[in-house]
Amino acid sequence: MSLKDAALAVRENAHAPYSKFKVGAAIRSASGAVHAGCNVENAAYPEGTCAEAGAIAAMVAAGETELTEVYVVAGSPQPVPPCGGCRQKLAEFGKADVVVTMATVDGTEMHTTIGDLLPGAFGAAHMEEP
Ligand code: THU
Repeated sequence: MSLKDAALAVRENAHAPYSKFKVGAAIRSASGAVHAGCNVENAAYPEGTCAEAGAIAAMVAAGETELTEVYVVAGSPQPVPPCGGCRQKLAEFGKADVVVTMATVDGTEMHTTIGDLLPGAFGAAHMEEP
């Protein structure tokens, strides 16, 4: 299944009764497998999780830790960029040149990269002893 189709399909399962804003995300991992996630909100609002976080959790649960492509789709008039926290989560598992496609359900797409979304990212290398 394409990332686009996976993201559109999983978006339908989003639990977004509070924002009414459904988001779907699909990522391809190094093996070529596709992992999908949707936003899962909570009555205790800060406990909600983003679609990207769900897709990353699915990838890690499947035993993989490198993502090579990302697709995010929402029902907004313009494609939605990942939030700050999700940019950091994406940077944990994807190289700076990994393409992130942001899309509307109508098919409008914008493309960026993890590096452009989070320049100067904090990473594991910053914790190395001098
Ligand atoms: N949301 C995502 O799932 N991904 C994004 O990239 C942007 C925002 C969700 C979080 C929340 O459930 C809803 O959209 C409104 O912020």
